[in-house]
Amino acid sequence: MSTRTKIKALLESGKTDIDVTVKGWVRTFRNNQFIALNDGSTNNNLQIVVDFENTDPALLKRITTGAALSVSGRLVASLGKGQSVDVKATSIEILGDSDPEKYPLQPKKHSLEFLREIAHLRFRTNTFGAIFRVRNTLSFAIHTFFQERGFVYLHTPVITASDAEGAGETFHVTNFDLANPPKTETGEIDFKQDFFGRATNLTVSGQLEGELGAMALSDIYTFGPTFRAENSNTTRHLAEFWMIEPEMAFYDLKDNADLAEELLKYVIRYALDKNKDDIEFLSQRLLEEEKQKPQQDRSELNLLEKLQFCLNNDFERLTYTEAIEILKESTPNKKKKFQYLIEGWGTDLQSEHERYLVEKHFKKPVILTDYPKEIKSFYMRQNDDGKTVAAMDILFPGIGEIVGGSQREERLDKLEQRMDEIGIPKDELWWYLDTRRYGGCPHAGFGLGFERLVLFVTGMGNIRDVIPFPRFPKNAEF
Ligand code: 4AD
Ligand code: MG
Repeated sequence: MSTRTKIKALLESGKTDIDVTVKGWVRTFRNNQFIALNDGSTNNNLQIVVDFENTDPALLKRITTGAALSVSGRLVASLGKGQSVDVKATSIEILGDSDPEKYPLQPKKHSLEFLREIAHLRFRTNTFGAIFRVRNTLSFAIHTFFQERGFVYLHTPVITASDAEGAGETFHVTNFDLANPPKTETGEIDFKQDFFGRATNLTVSGQLEGELGAMALSDIYTFGPTFRAENSNTTRHLAEFWMIEPEMAFYDLKDNADLAEELLKYVIRYALDKNKDDIEFLSQRLLEEEKQKPQQDRSELNLLEKLQFCLNNDFERLTYTEAIEILKESTPNKKKKFQYLIEGWGTDLQSEHERYLVEKHFKKPVILTDYPKEIKSFYMRQNDDGKTVAAMDILFPGIGEIVGGSQREERLDKLEQRMDEIGIPKDELWWYLDTRRYGGCPHAGFGLGFERLVLFVTGMGNIRDVIPFPRFPKNAEF
């Protein structure tokens, strides 16, 4: 294969009057003369100028939207507006035809809903090209952040027998013949005969195993797929999502919150530096989309300003108890505009409450701490008040909860007592309890929902548009 230059490198090189070979897919072909070629390395297309008078008409007919081409020619300063360079084609080879009558992606604006149905092709649009380049950068930035700080990337199992969050939202893993599973004498499914000799499920969180690593390696992080069978058909939930879970020995809740804030700012800044063009494009896209909305529903800040704002301000930190006071006194609560009214202390916050705090009251990211123990998981460290635990949630504008974490209960007696209270089987988690028996120490960690982060940075409105092939109730296409 001839040496091929990626379009991004070519556009950034500043060179002209050289011979080049480029390969990519046709976005548009105008006047039998101008091809807009895109190879996914950048949102910017390269303009190919075709000498149509000296080109075989049969070949010209095959230059259609979606076709894959290899083009060789001379890179020259452009005479037209809108681009700095063109390639004057000397040879064009069709690598793959695309029937313009049948190709689902026409050179016009398609709705995001429609594009979700052709997720196998949506990478070829400007919007999805930008989103997936930003997603790539963010995942790299996450590794860079932790690696620079000496964290160990730990691979926790995807198949497990535990339900870390204790919420019972797991997908079973079995190789039984579902129509005819072996039964015990009492008629229950006999998981002892299953592949792993016990009932297993896809992980809902790598945290418990992550804690084991932190009790020797000090600072670890996981970054992997996570599965939840919660039947939430929302723009913020997926059945398969990626989560980053750092776990740090000798950290308390404040250290934990400091690290999470630093991480979020670091990766957002990283993407702004690395993917400026893409984020500018997405910012513009959002402006156009918002023009459809009534004035009062439009954002005060555009996407770029929103990201900058997030970088330049300390996140607001307050306790759950303080938040409840604010919410109780808030206008939507008093005017009964919330779907779930805040009556008093102890209820879980819904996303409408989280978004009120972040978008209306503080107008910036918020870290809420010290939640009632009843609404949080068994492993969170119990505070001295006997009512709350050292939990933290980070709430983001337009997103709601982006991070959930806590300081962990390192005191064996307290942990066992809490597990008994809420019926978490201690014998199954013997290995988890062992770390409290042997050299347990204060430690903390959190989980960052990767797609929610990508949502925030791209300004997209639906989580199904920031993962290549979303899994949600009644959908596992592709
Ligand atoms: O708050 P969650 O459930 O916390 C945990 O799983 C802890 N074990 C984390 C830890 O302390 N190590 O989930 C953490 C984050 C949420 O804040 C949210 O961003 C994301 O994961 N998340 C989801 N993202 C997409 N779809 C879903 N169904 C999600 N559920 C949680
Ligand atoms: Mg949570």
